Amino acid sequence: MVELGTRTGANGSNGTNATNGRTIDGSPLAHDAEMAWREAQGASQIGPFDYVPPMGFREYWYPAVFKKDVGTKKPVFVKMLGEDIVFFRGKADKVYALFDWCPHRSARLSQGESLFPGTITCEYHGYTFNGEGECVAGLIDSPNTPVVGKMKGRSYPTDEHDGVVYVWMGETEPVPLAEDLPPEIVDSRNHSYKHVSEWDANWTEPVNQGIDYHEAYLHRKTFNYMGGWTQPWKFKFHGLLSKELPFFRPRVANYGGIKIVHEDEKRVCSNPVNVAYGEDFHPGVNASWPRKRWYMFLPKRVRKTFSLMGADGASLLGIPSFSHGVELPSKIRTGSGSEKPAISLHMRWMVPVTLETCRVWTYTIGREPKTILGKAYKKLWYHLWRKPNTITRINEWEDLVTFQKDRLRYDLPQKLSTLDTVVIYFRRHLAQRSRDFQRLGGAYGSNHPPTKGAGLHQVATAFEQREMVGIEGGDC
Ligand code: FES
Ligand SMILES: [Fe+2]
Repeated sequence: MVELGTRTGANGSNGTNATNGRTIDGSPLAHDAEMAWREAQGASQIGPFDYVPPMGFREYWYPAVFKKDVGTKKPVFVKMLGEDIVFFRGKADKVYALFDWCPHRSARLSQGESLFPGTITCEYHGYTFNGEGECVAGLIDSPNTPVVGKMKGRSYPTDEHDGVVYVWMGETEPVPLAEDLPPEIVDSRNHSYKHVSEWDANWTEPVNQGIDYHEAYLHRKTFNYMGGWTQPWKFKFHGLLSKELPFFRPRVANYGGIKIVHEDEKRVCSNPVNVAYGEDFHPGVNASWPRKRWYMFLPKRVRKTFSLMGADGASLLGIPSFSHGVELPSKIRTGSGSEKPAISLHMRWMVPVTLETCRVWTYTIGREPKTILGKAYKKLWYHLWRKPNTITRINEWEDLVTFQKDRLRYDLPQKLSTLDTVVIYFRRHLAQRSRDFQRLGGAYGSNHPPTKGAGLHQVATAFEQREMVGIEGGDC
């Protein structure tokens, strides 16, 4: 366990941050790490929605759809942040986004098609709308119909990066897209694979789960390289074949506490304090856990083991490597990647859909290999190993099933532990540094609703948002 007097790291004993008081963008640090760490020592009751909005921070760009999926004729329907959106382009290059319910008599625009570049025509009566949501033609009404220029639907700003269309659903002016993209994917030296899936969980839990250091327990079978007799396909054969022979070495028994190693205006990153391998004695149960296994006879390999979590050397973010981090509005990193093409960063970007579902964009980001052989190897590694093993097997078969719908409650008081140091930081400090708080004075649906701006009552989620305000996270 961490002792306050001996703690080093983020806001270490001299009170300065590891990055000399500046973020990677050059702005001053927030210095909230010490407060989050202290709060974690006392079973904090900061609730999931005290400051964090149950339907997501709105003043941000979010990934919406792959551009290749938006046809020249057929639009694409996407539900996100509780709203129904139609994406279309016709033969235009740019993809546009409109509120899906037609301004005429509220049929779904996504049932229609793009007959002209950059427009969508509603299937019901043929009114046609441009990317700004303005009616530009009434095909069966009249070429001179007076509603042109008067009938208008809601449009959302869109932008693109690397084949993905991002959308801004905030009520304030959008920032440049690059400001909200993870810096690693903007760096032209890097390459990323993207995987999208729907999870039956409020968007906050995959965020919390990405920063709460559950791995050594929830994934203990993974750590043990065993799937049990009933799930032999979970056996990690590469553990036997790897030159490091990890199968024969002691696994992580506990983390010895969590420390914040980097904080800036939009993210916080952390490492375990003092990892114990093999087994450790717990006086409360007068026993050791986990039990020693006869085949773990080789010495522990700390550096190599943790480099798998990205905690060795420099990260792709340009700060010292870390094992878990969270970035506004809803991105988590497990591992931080490195200069070596072989070590990739596992980043998930959660897009709220409804109160009980979210869309998870997993970006696997690494340095682009320089040789053809290197590129081919990386492709095989991703499709044959990383995607089936990490994204499907670990994230979707082990993580999601523990907190999916009806298996986790958001309305009961929670008592956060030292493992949750980063969760506390996210729920309390990062949430209040969000653009929703900076621009609106709060976040829709949280216990601290906006003090400025009232645009949201116009959209379909307003009812859901109001319902969630009543939920007690509790600071008591
Ligand atoms: S409802 Fe869309 S054109 Fe009438
Ligand atoms: Fe996990």
